[in-house]
Amino acid sequence: MKTILVTGATGQIGSELTPALRQRYGNDSIIAAGHRKQPDADLTNAGPYCRLNIEDIAALARIVENYRIDTIIHLASLLSAVAETDPQRAWSVNIDGLFNVLEIARQNACSVFFPSSIGAFGPNTPTFDTPQDTIQRPNTLYGIGKVTGELLCDYYHKRYNLDTRGLRFPGLISYKTPPGGGTTDYAVEIFNAAVRWQHYTCYLKPDTQLDMMYMPDAIDAIWQLMTADPKRLIHRNAYNVTAMSFTPEQLAAEIRRHIPDFKMSYKIDPLRQVIADSWPRHMDDSAARQEWGWQARYDLATMVKDMLEHITE
Ligand code: SER
Repeated sequence: MKTILVTGATGQIGSELTPALRQRYGNDSIIAAGHRKQPDADLTNAGPYCRLNIEDIAALARIVENYRIDTIIHLASLLSAVAETDPQRAWSVNIDGLFNVLEIARQNACSVFFPSSIGAFGPNTPTFDTPQDTIQRPNTLYGIGKVTGELLCDYYHKRYNLDTRGLRFPGLISYKTPPGGGTTDYAVEIFNAAVRWQHYTCYLKPDTQLDMMYMPDAIDAIWQLMTADPKRLIHRNAYNVTAMSFTPEQLAAEIRRHIPDFKMSYKIDPLRQVIADSWPRHMDDSAARQEWGWQARYDLATMVKDMLEHITE
């Protein structure tokens, strides 16, 4: 990795990954691309920024050729709940967008990172210790896009020897940029609400258990996988990775250890509840541990403490 294009650089992962990569590889080696006209000054002042609609393959090709990109970290995507409100657009951004990335990567011999998700599983998938290789019949457009993406990345590697790599992320928790339109967003929103109002109304049922990860671990996971020795990568794409697994009730209890007056009430959103109920409760991430040494640093207690400290600041 020498000159890296980050698509979706203004999103939840991109806004933290881009500065982290700029620190490691130098500001000018990381080209941030996003759909926003006016992204945060932090992002544009530090290094190159290009406005990009991922559905526009010609614009993507121009960026990759002009900057002589050798790695594309492709984060541009619609999250699960928002994808369900506009399935046609979700197909175009999430599936056609990835296809554009793989085609331009093939033509320019770039490595590609693709983030899959717990959303790639469905109601028939084993819920606990969800295996790396198992039944995947998701019933959301987001999930269909993730499975398609996993298969496309495998295909481009096998057919064209493209260096594709990827992870299945759980819900990601961060304080810098809100996720916007995901099913796991409650686990981010709750922190701002707890600090400001000591109250949060949760849209998932109290016992809805899902895998989660704190953003510093997600950033490390991407970097570790992309720099791993390719000879060790048996799966290469779509590695299950997780750091913790909890319910809204358990997260509220942990927050209460720091903010004793914190109260949680529930108003269930049927759309997001159905999506959450179709996802695993806890994934088995032993393939990632064995093949490239994955290990999370943050658990529920250390993540909550760190989130509250940063949000209070
Ligand atoms: N956090 C994502 C979502 O809720 C799952 O990958 O859509």
